[in-house]
Amino acid sequence: MTIESSTRTGESHDYRDSGLEFPTGFLIGSATAAYQIEGAATADGRGPSIWDTFSATPGKIVDGDTGAVADDHYHRLDEDLDLMAELGLEAYRFSIAWPRIQPLGSGAVNEAGLAFYSRLVDGLIARGIRPIATLYHWDLPQALEDAGGWTDRETAYRFAEYTRHVAEALGDRVPVWTTLNEPWCSAFLGYGSGAHAPGRTDGAAALRAMHHLNLAHGLAVQVLREVVPRAEVSVTLNFHVVRGADDSSSEAVRRIDALANRAFTEPMLNGGYPADLIEDTASVTDWSFVLPGDAEIIRQPLDFLGVNYYSTTRVRMWDGVSPRERADGHKAAGGSPWPGSDQVEFLRQDGPYTAMGWNIAPDGFEDLLLSLHRRFPGLPLMITENGAAFDDEVIGDRVFDDQRTDYLRRHFTAAHRAMQQGVDLRGYLVWSLLDNFEWGYGFSKRFGIVHVDYATQKRTVKDSGRWLASLIESRVIPG
Ligand code: FCB
Repeated sequence: MTIESSTRTGESHDYRDSGLEFPTGFLIGSATAAYQIEGAATADGRGPSIWDTFSATPGKIVDGDTGAVADDHYHRLDEDLDLMAELGLEAYRFSIAWPRIQPLGSGAVNEAGLAFYSRLVDGLIARGIRPIATLYHWDLPQALEDAGGWTDRETAYRFAEYTRHVAEALGDRVPVWTTLNEPWCSAFLGYGSGAHAPGRTDGAAALRAMHHLNLAHGLAVQVLREVVPRAEVSVTLNFHVVRGADDSSSEAVRRIDALANRAFTEPMLNGGYPADLIEDTASVTDWSFVLPGDAEIIRQPLDFLGVNYYSTTRVRMWDGVSPRERADGHKAAGGSPWPGSDQVEFLRQDGPYTAMGWNIAPDGFEDLLLSLHRRFPGLPLMITENGAAFDDEVIGDRVFDDQRTDYLRRHFTAAHRAMQQGVDLRGYLVWSLLDNFEWGYGFSKRFGIVHVDYATQKRTVKDSGRWLASLIESRVIPG
């Protein structure tokens, strides 16, 4: 599924269109994730997750930050719901913290944990905001990691049980479900590079984890179809838009596309792992973790595909002298997130850049949407994350974040252009509603359309938030 550079013709486009109109029914909203905003890490019976353990480990997170308090969203739910209503959000994508529901990852349900999400869902519905629930956004209960984590097949079955508990409790009110957020990150950053929790650096473990995440997805979809047959069900993937650095880079592009994209789309949507992926990783693993029948479990019809997009990736085969400084957009850590393909070199790309150092490339976004549409015709798409970090400052009562507004405007333009070319795009959720705990970068990176002062927990709507509110209200990209 390589993502070809688009079908754009003529002069290059700057993606700063205004006046483009989105149809009614195209959902525009925002997204967050539990560990990044909730805080209240030990409240009401919540158990520890791998991110509590990882962030408490010295050296893992910039400035030693943790999500123990974060935005204190758990205790400020009503205020944050009012903020969403003030912005006019049509949809809100949140994640459910498994360790609040089952503190040890299995067994009895913690009713107080469920009650929080029940209140959240009711609060959204009361404000006319469509709830979109993600079941897993990286916060595995630590007890399950202690038993092997995602390298253990049993974890997939525990996930299906957890899914059943949540679906039974919230299924009457949540119309849209996402099984996993970015399983590539869970597997390859969590178990391969070690930049994410649980911080393991073992390529074979990363590939096992990948398979068990795929299996968990399939099992969870089966449960959701049974418990909430009328709900829409999806998964969210972080597609890598891989570009070759020169004409001889097609091998590098193929390898990274296999590990980053097709390792998930092929089993989930087509029923099996790509032969080239199996071959590329043969020196790392024998793939004996794939059991007969797994392909059928993993391949489940989906109602739409969730797409997270931030920037593009540029690669070529390493010339054998010495690998350049890592420039794959992921925080450098001990191990490799690309098992079997360490000879691929990631090159720094042309700017402009966000505060993450990620290149701003709305053309890559358009290309991605078009190629997914061509590759999986008939499967609707939804942007479940897109946004940018910049170094914001509150001046008076305002945050003049023109760069973020420009980023959003250019990416909304790209999405609109894709829709004009026939892509069935159902919605667009901006990452993120609030500044929050940005994983290995802690609180040093701000992605919010609402600023959070971590000392006082004061929320200030940024100019980009006002821009989004105006887009939602008018359905037209503001000038
Ligand atoms: C994605 C994650 C999300 C956030 C953004 C910036 O990979 O899903 O939680 O960290 O990146």
